Amino acid sequence: MSSANAAVSFQYDTPELADAYERAGVVQFNHGQVLIERLRIAPGERVLDVGAGTGRLAAYVAELVGPAGEVVGIDPLGHRIAIAQSRSGANVRFATGQAEDLSAFADGSFDVVYLNSVLHWIADKPRALAEAHRVLRPGGRIGLNTKDPSKPHEIRGFIQTALADAGLAGRRRDPQGGSDGAALQVLLEEAGFRPGDSVLHTIVDFHDNVDDLLTWSESSAFGNFLSGFSPDERSHIRAALAARLESRRTPDGLRLERYLRFATAVKPAAS
Ligand SMILES: C[S@@+](CC[C@H](N)C(=O)[O-])C[C@H]1O[C@@H](n2cnc3c(N)ncnc32)[C@H](O)[C@@H]1O
Repeated sequence: MSSANAAVSFQYDTPELADAYERAGVVQFNHGQVLIERLRIAPGERVLDVGAGTGRLAAYVAELVGPAGEVVGIDPLGHRIAIAQSRSGANVRFATGQAEDLSAFADGSFDVVYLNSVLHWIADKPRALAEAHRVLRPGGRIGLNTKDPSKPHEIRGFIQTALADAGLAGRRRDPQGGSDGAALQVLLEEAGFRPGDSVLHTIVDFHDNVDDLLTWSESSAFGNFLSGFSPDERSHIRAALAARLESRRTPDGLRLERYLRFATAVKPAAS
């Protein structure tokens, strides 16, 4: 099952949200390292990071490919690319761009393409994966992780309950569209890939408080998490969420689980 994206807008991002993501996105960096490990990136390889955000993971990969390799990171959000560019170096560079249009890159010009916490945001997934396939060399690898609609993040249930508590039930549409294992396999095969591993990981996060959780959620969603709600409505949602999350308080913070499907695939040498 693949779930469709409600309208995702790139227009809600701000310099403040980009700065907040630069701090809060350590969460994505941590599971991104797991993705990178699965791709077994070697010195000298050319790597494309699609949806690179503020570039922390791309800079990490640049250390793996070393001076003989290169990492290019693209993202549609100019404020995030501006931060990423402060990480540019001899073997890592960043530019604005979207997964669905990789025309800035030649056919077969990368050894590896990866998308860390990005696929569920992309409206036209077949086109994005076809583009990734085109820019990979024969034998090149793709790696990604994505939400799986068969196992929603725990925050989703809490938000729905908080909205109901605040008298706002039914007002929010989840802006992301994930893919379960079967749907992801079809997407990868139809783009021309030979799918490899596909594993659902459970990730446990601890947030200091409700504001920390909301900052992480809103900056990760580049302003789409509670778009459409007035400041007054947001403060009601925040209060309701804070009350509901007390059930998750631990000595380490508010404990919430997320579930991400990690998949790798290869562009067959003959395609
Ligand atoms: C949760 S952030 C992940 C950022 C980065 N990959 C990381 O690991 O920190 C999701 C990113 O996906 C990007 N994104 C959303 N739609 C995209 C698209 N169609 N093409 C490329 N990137 C996209 C957003 O701009 C945002 O930076």
